[in-house]
Amino acid sequence: VDNLIVLGIETSCDDTAAAVVRGNGEILSQVVSSQADLLVQYGGVAPKMAEEAHSKAINRVTQSALDEANLTAKDLSAVAVTIGPGLSLCLRVGVRKAREIARSFQLPLIGVHHMEAHTLVARLTDRNLQFPFMALLISGGHNLLILARDLGHYIQLGTTIDDAIGEAYDKTAKWLGLDMRRSGGPAVEELAREGDSESIKFKTPMLHHKDCNFSYAGLKTQVKLAIGSKNIDAEIPLSLASSHDRSSRADIAASFQRVAVLHLEERCERAIEWALKMEPSIKYFVVSGGVASNQYVRARLEQIAKNKGLQLVCPPPSLCTDNGVMVAWTGIEHFQMGRFDPPPPADEPEDTV
Ligand code: KG4
Ligand code: ZN
Repeated sequence: VDNLIVLGIETSCDDTAAAVVRGNGEILSQVVSSQADLLVQYGGVAPKMAEEAHSKAINRVTQSALDEANLTAKDLSAVAVTIGPGLSLCLRVGVRKAREIARSFQLPLIGVHHMEAHTLVARLTDRNLQFPFMALLISGGHNLLILARDLGHYIQLGTTIDDAIGEAYDKTAKWLGLDMRRSGGPAVEELAREGDSESIKFKTPMLHHKDCNFSYAGLKTQVKLAIGSKNIDAEIPLSLASSHDRSSRADIAASFQRVAVLHLEERCERAIEWALKMEPSIKYFVVSGGVASNQYVRARLEQIAKNKGLQLVCPPPSLCTDNGVMVAWTGIEHFQMGRFDPPPPADEPEDTV
């Protein structure tokens, strides 16, 4: 098992990523090609353009992953690839490449769920992490609270009814006119350090709904109003954002972040209580996905975990944001359980996906 070597490919959103991981958890290589420049130019992910960027990068990224691991595709035990959820045009680029490699070298193929990969990568970074455990997954498109009972056996305790927290960070950054070259989240986190988080009393979402679901659309609107646009459907002109000086923009960023994370804290507390009733043996609380690379988020959720007697497991930032390692590792977990597809037939036509 320790000698398994799996290539993981991830193209579900705006990063083209690949990595090679060994069955014992050793990361042999990790390559990410980001489309951040495109995002800045167009203010978001446009599927058709993202697909083109993936198509341009995919051969180079997978080859670099093999080269950096000092391997060729012949040395692989299997190929793992994200099959969803995500932009289907983009997913297809990764799946096509994975099938091509699996076909050429007659390797088993493992289809991986993106959110399961965000969850299970915590078992690579913390080898003591056993099922059952709690997980909060926070990214640009998802806000999920999950009780992971066993491999492939997950109970959803909460999800977002509109936007995910990462989307709210990204829009806040855009409306504040921040430098988006590294996506909005890190820019807001950095500016928030200078601000007074109590200066604007944004309302915490859904306080009267005693469940574990999330909502970030209302908070987004509150931020937009605070920046000054009365017409919430209109784009905020950059001039309006820059009419606030740096310290008042920092106050908005800090106040937004405090409430955005307060909403996480409140839901996580309840979800952990629910989960402990179902599975009293839970010892770990996993927090993963792009937003989990935020230091303030980590610190606040660490406290929640502690209060509930759980240990927080949060992968390093490079494994929280989209990456190939999480896909390869999830592939390894499934492969070990015998869950994989046989190699595609050698005479399969190239464009069946
Ligand atoms: O998991 P991920 O890389 O891609 C998705 O599956 O969506 O998450 C990307 C999201 C973006 O919304 C980005 O702004 C956010 O994660 N993010 C952050 C931070 N780093 C990335 N949000 C807040 N603070 C950060 N430091
Ligand atoms: Zn993701």
